[in-house]
Amino acid sequence: MNHIENLPQPKSYGPLGNLPGIDKEKPVQSFMKHARELGPIYQLQFPGRVSTFISNARFAAEICDETRFDKKVGPALQKVRAFGGDGLFTSGTEEPNWKKAHNILLPSFSQQAMKGYHEKMIDLASQLIQKWARLNPNEEVDVPDDMTRLTLDTIGLCGFNYRFNSFYREDSHPFIEKMVRALDESMSQTQRLGIQDKLMVRSKRQFKEDIDYMFNLVDQLIEERKQAGDQGEDDLLGHMLKGKDPETGEALDDENIRFQIITFLIAGHETTSGLLSFAMYYLLKHPDKLQKAYEEVDEVLGDDTPSYKQVKQLKYVRMILNEALRLWPTAPAFSVYAKEDTTLDGEYEVEKGDTFTLLIPELHRDTTVWGDNAEEFNPERFENPASIPHHAYKPFGNGQRACIGQQFALHEATLVLGMVLQHFDLEDHTDYELDVKETL
Ligand code: HEM
Repeated sequence: MNHIENLPQPKSYGPLGNLPGIDKEKPVQSFMKHARELGPIYQLQFPGRVSTFISNARFAAEICDETRFDKKVGPALQKVRAFGGDGLFTSGTEEPNWKKAHNILLPSFSQQAMKGYHEKMIDLASQLIQKWARLNPNEEVDVPDDMTRLTLDTIGLCGFNYRFNSFYREDSHPFIEKMVRALDESMSQTQRLGIQDKLMVRSKRQFKEDIDYMFNLVDQLIEERKQAGDQGEDDLLGHMLKGKDPETGEALDDENIRFQIITFLIAGHETTSGLLSFAMYYLLKHPDKLQKAYEEVDEVLGDDTPSYKQVKQLKYVRMILNEALRLWPTAPAFSVYAKEDTTLDGEYEVEKGDTFTLLIPELHRDTTVWGDNAEEFNPERFENPASIPHHAYKPFGNGQRACIGQQFALHEATLVLGMVLQHFDLEDHTDYELDVKETL
């Protein structure tokens, strides 16, 4: 059996290891390139640590076995803990607040709960449609920018009844500016040598200021809600303030609620706005699929403002979103560690504690599952979801640590894409070329 210490690795540069071979602005796209050159399992050396990347369905099935592997809060997520704390996304499964918050929040993200958010989602989607409809013919639309306005405002309204009012601003809300800068800084910290990092005094000060701003805004929201008392709000904040963990009978404390709110803002908006932007890109490039989507939207929605039930009937729109998430999963990697000594399908020896990162965009291009045309955009692949091997499609992560917001994201994205198609003719008049930006 092979040991994972002897895995393929690209050219290394002394103490910097493989860092110089990684595009700092687009690390995931560099990892994807390496996977194509080195195969389904390979290693990269970073200052002080090694990362092992997996990118085929056979090994993905192994590391998604929750009896042997569990989520790893790796170096990047450790940095995000400065403002995500022990919120759901950045906590280890063994931390008490993970299970507590998971139990309290699951009902708030159920299919049933989406009915309660539907009207608020329509409110924000209508703002986007109105903005675009009122533009003059020669004015440009920055799709990812407006989708980010939309998804941030949606999570703000459904989460805590707060209106960021992003469509009424030229620039993004100050919270976003600070959150993006803090995320950027935490990612940069993982790419610096220890000594380099210590010297970045100004960035560190800015980081602290940005975090203080986020904490203040969120703490104020919590305080105002507590002062006002329970007015029967059906939002995430209301559920967190009132909810008790059925296992322990305990509620979440205020500090943890603050971390959860920041977590939902981080995890819940760029992912969904990226999904909508990629979906629109692929539709522009595939007029035949676009036509099929128009036909469905005409038939299901006509001129109606979509109801909850109609959104559920937009099956082809949902398939388009699934396929966009296959080619460009907007949370493109997650990491796990081995809970015990084990193997990868009998081929590689694994020791307790060994860590693996699943490179989802490459998993989603595994030709043994998706065929030789894996690069091709073809929503019809999702006609029969049962035909897709369970561990070959992981845009929302795995098992109990999978995305809690999956239904939320998909309901919102289906509704918004449906309404965009209902109101606009999309045309690729500038022959747009895809350029994928990366943040967290
Ligand atoms: C298209 C949109 C989205 C995608 C692709 C996505 C993807 C993911 C993935 C891959 C994970 C697992 C991360 C890991 O294992 O380290 C995750 C976790 C999570 N996501 Fe999402 N997400 C999306 C939207 C949302 C939304 C809308 C919310 C909240 C409103 C949300 C909240 C979370 C949270 C809280 C976790 C951590 C769950 C836990 O470990 O208990 N996500 N997401």
